[in-house]
Amino acid sequence: MASESGSASGFAAGLASQNGAQARADASRPYYAPVGNEESVFKAAYRQGLSIVLKGPTGCGKTRFVEAMAHDLGRPLITVACHDDLTTADLVGRYLLRGDETVWVDGPLTRAVREGAICYLDEVVEARQDTTVVLHPLADYRRQLPIERLGVTLDAAPGFGLVVSYNPGYQSVLKDLKDSTRQRMVAIEFGFPAADLEESIVAHEAGVDTATAAALVRFGQAIRRLETGGLREVASTRVLIAAGLLTAEGLSLGEAARAAVAGPLTDDASVSRGLVEMIDVYLDQQARPGD
Ligand SMILES: Nc1ncnc2c1ncn2[C@@H]1O[C@H](COP(=O)(O)OP(=O)(O)O)[C@@H](O)[C@H]1O
Ligand SMILES: [Mg+2]
Repeated sequence: MASESGSASGFAAGLASQNGAQARADASRPYYAPVGNEESVFKAAYRQGLSIVLKGPTGCGKTRFVEAMAHDLGRPLITVACHDDLTTADLVGRYLLRGDETVWVDGPLTRAVREGAICYLDEVVEARQDTTVVLHPLADYRRQLPIERLGVTLDAAPGFGLVVSYNPGYQSVLKDLKDSTRQRMVAIEFGFPAADLEESIVAHEAGVDTATAAALVRFGQAIRRLETGGLREVASTRVLIAAGLLTAEGLSLGEAARAAVAGPLTDDASVSRGLVEMIDVYLDQQARPGD
């Protein structure tokens, strides 16, 4: 559930290296194509110790963005995928039996607080409110994590950053936060990129040519323009990339879009027929790559 990545270089070194680093090509940087000013807003908020909320639909690049920011800032990244069974102990830590000893094991949030890592709580609305109360003193000016079971309160190490994401299409965790906490959080809104940028993202990520990427993006944008009655989600950049990956294996664009876009987006037979008709119009005249 928790994963770690990113360099462990010193905090000061990280801050120093980000100055002007964007201009230099860096092969180890996670590929992220900025859509607007989100990179400078994130870095400004992080440097000022403000927590960050990323809002946006699933599959629009939030996770990749945080990976790129942690890289640029030279901080380790600890990601927690939130779900409704997540407990405070899952975040903070618990006593575990090792042989005949009980030992305390830090949870991912506590590790981030001690190490000065960036902690990314993905889809934080999925977690119950009694789990996320522990975030309040961390998200506001106190930057503290109370650990009840240990009877201690930790001050966040320099470099610690709290980042949460959620999909505003669902309910909002923000309304559960106190105003004083909300005001310490900086919000960055994500949407799908403009067509030309999304084309280069799909081409890069799926390894397809520009014409294939452009056709997929035209189709994806047409779906997004629909009044999406029966769709669980609109077609995200992620599903377009998945379709691209299938064409890279030799499937036609139509086959790929049926499998990777239409299938995942709906279980409703009539909605699905509508999508397949769109695929016929937008994609099926295209030949298979290599034909
Ligand atoms: N702006 C972007 N730059 C680079 N890749 C992107 C961008 N937006 C989306 N992607 C691609 O789409 C995929 C899904 O994005 P992800 O970050 O997992 O979405 P989210 O976390 O918002 O659900 C990523 O793995 C990446 O391949
Ligand atoms: Mg994500």
